[in-house]
Amino acid sequence: MPKKLLKTFEGKSFRSPPIWLMRQAGRYLPEYQELRKKAGSFLNLCYNSDLAYEATMQPIRRFQLDGAILFSDILVIPHSLGFALNFIEGKGPIFENFTVEKLTKIKKDLYLKEKVFDHLQSIFKTLTKLRKTLPEETSLIGFCGAPWTVATYLITGKSSQDQITARTFAFQNPEIFEDLLNILTRITSFYLIEQIKAGAEIIQIFDSWSGVLDEEAFENYCIYPVAKIVETVKKEFPNIPIIAFPKGSGYFYETFAEKTNVNALSLDWTYPLEKAKNLSEKTIIQGNLDPLRLLSGGEFLQKSTKKIIETFKEKPFIFNLGHGILPETPISHVEELIHLVRSCH
Ligand code: CP3
Repeated sequence: MPKKLLKTFEGKSFRSPPIWLMRQAGRYLPEYQELRKKAGSFLNLCYNSDLAYEATMQPIRRFQLDGAILFSDILVIPHSLGFALNFIEGKGPIFENFTVEKLTKIKKDLYLKEKVFDHLQSIFKTLTKLRKTLPEETSLIGFCGAPWTVATYLITGKSSQDQITARTFAFQNPEIFEDLLNILTRITSFYLIEQIKAGAEIIQIFDSWSGVLDEEAFENYCIYPVAKIVETVKKEFPNIPIIAFPKGSGYFYETFAEKTNVNALSLDWTYPLEKAKNLSEKTIIQGNLDPLRLLSGGEFLQKSTKKIIETFKEKPFIFNLGHGILPETPISHVEELIHLVRSCH
């Protein structure tokens, strides 16, 4: 069987498009909850390659998706740089003590790359094992957070809706912020190259908080670092497909695609389908069902799914959600969605 997902990046279109779902591994699956309990903490799950392997495989075994995304988190990168991180039940990630002194120390560390590599060893091991054992038709997706999104968590110390703390910090401390973005850009490029060496066949860059920025900030904090990462990775692996997810960046999507050279854009659900169809003349589109339609099920789920597939029917296109699956989503709705997509002829 061909790898439909990889074929899409060669320009092939399918009447029934390849499908994978952001956060396809996670709390909506009872077997994930069990594994998570066994791991003790979320970070243990990410850093134990046997358990992370299991978490990655769970949705593949259940749904035979076209893509398997490495089970990990975007925040392992700042963690590997030495910023203490915890995931608190019901609160999400908590970073301790972002200080300028710490950043300066990191900047001077000649062995940073080696240290980061050691810290992330188990993640590369997970990828290698996955690549060896995944079904032939399933493509392996590696990922990272974009520097801006990672920086927002680091500076704020926790999740935030509007990123007031991070934006204010960036505007009040432009030099320090530039240093931070540069370090994250450099280490993330290195991290992705190692993921590809370990077995990743496709890369997705998550910029979940790009939608809170004005034009100039979007150019400097989102486009520029992602373009740099793409350039560095493609220098070593020119043919690796890269998908970017600059969530909530409606007006800027086109410019983003042009200037970053990514192979595909993952759209959130607020982007109009007709506009997305135009955009698909220039770049491959992934998306963009509202995760709440999946959670709700029923007629709305069916109609929207069919409409999305109909829109992109002659284009290389990847079916996905506009953001991650929510923990309350019934498994039967996920089954229905996959059946709907797979039964398109
Ligand atoms: O299945 C997959 O998609 C692969 C695994 C994956 C996770 N996080 C697992 C996870 C991926 C690709 C991510 C990316 C990620 N992590 C992003 C970008 C995508 C997005 O959602 O916007 C971001 C911003 C993070 C940071 C993060 N991780 C937050 C804010 C939280 C807390 C919120 C939440 O959903 O709990 C996490 C935790 C997290 N990452 C969980 C999972 C399965 C839940 C933790 C648990 O099981 O206790």
